[in-house]
Amino acid sequence: MTKATVVGAGNVGSNTARRIAEKDVADEVVMIDIVEGLPQGLALDLNQSAPVEGFEATVVGTNDYADTASSDVVVITAGLARKPGMSRMDLLEKNAEIVSGVTEQIAKHSPDAVLVVVSNPLDEMTYLTSLVSGFPKERVMGMAGVLDSSRLRFFIAERLSVPPTSIEAMTLGSHGDQMVALPRHATAGGRPVPELIDDDGLARLFARTRDAGAEIVGYLKKGSAFYAPSSAAAAMVNAILKDTGEVFPTCVWTTGEYGISDVYLGLPARLGLSGVVEIVELELNDDESNQLNEAAEAIRAKCKELEAHRPS
Ligand code: LAC
Repeated sequence: MTKATVVGAGNVGSNTARRIAEKDVADEVVMIDIVEGLPQGLALDLNQSAPVEGFEATVVGTNDYADTASSDVVVITAGLARKPGMSRMDLLEKNAEIVSGVTEQIAKHSPDAVLVVVSNPLDEMTYLTSLVSGFPKERVMGMAGVLDSSRLRFFIAERLSVPPTSIEAMTLGSHGDQMVALPRHATAGGRPVPELIDDDGLARLFARTRDAGAEIVGYLKKGSAFYAPSSAAAAMVNAILKDTGEVFPTCVWTTGEYGISDVYLGLPARLGLSGVVEIVELELNDDESNQLNEAAEAIRAKCKELEAHRPS
């Protein structure tokens, strides 16, 4: 039996559970939350959509980690979302506490699971999850690159008035101010995007992508984005459970790739049943490489801060 657990039944968690169920990649999808009744109610609602949507997965809502036991993959969305004016980093301390507690429980009940972290600040929470779980690093990764890249692909498509699926583009680095856009690697219907949009135009699209989460928080007032984040998380779960070997920009542990070591960072990674199967090394120019190093150093500094504050 294939089992996927989503921790957190907020907007991101419940939509991730829904998308995993609709993809029918797991026999059982467990949604767990500390709020009593919330995951149970959402699970009932989701199950009642199965005949219409045509999926066979069973969704279970629970407040008890015993029900998550022996999961193959666990998506961690627990934690607070931003309010208008807040940066993802403002969530560091509170979410560190929440994510640590969750990870302890998950590691105890699903010692062989692949963990996909979605809680913010993403890169730092992924590192924390790896520390607390003690899992091999290839089994702990963070979701953000798929989301940021999807946002960038949409903005490019909108600008060029072409279908979003005809755009390929990737962002690396951090899920935050140190996002690294790779214009030279972006294509529209196979044509290099820099031939179609000038430098200023591209810079504007990258800035909007970097700030896309905050733009949505500004509109919603309460809570942050969830449709695109849940799509991205579910796509990663699909790649893992189906062992597709797809390459997604993913927050992964570095061991010398791109000249960077011992820090979690957004890089292209091949995903499969064992988690991160391989980190793919693209050709970067000096400028891109410098930006990636800056992102790595910013994340490293924040992780040091986090470690210093962590209750032992
Ligand atoms: C965003 C949050 C999920 O980027 O980080 O919308």
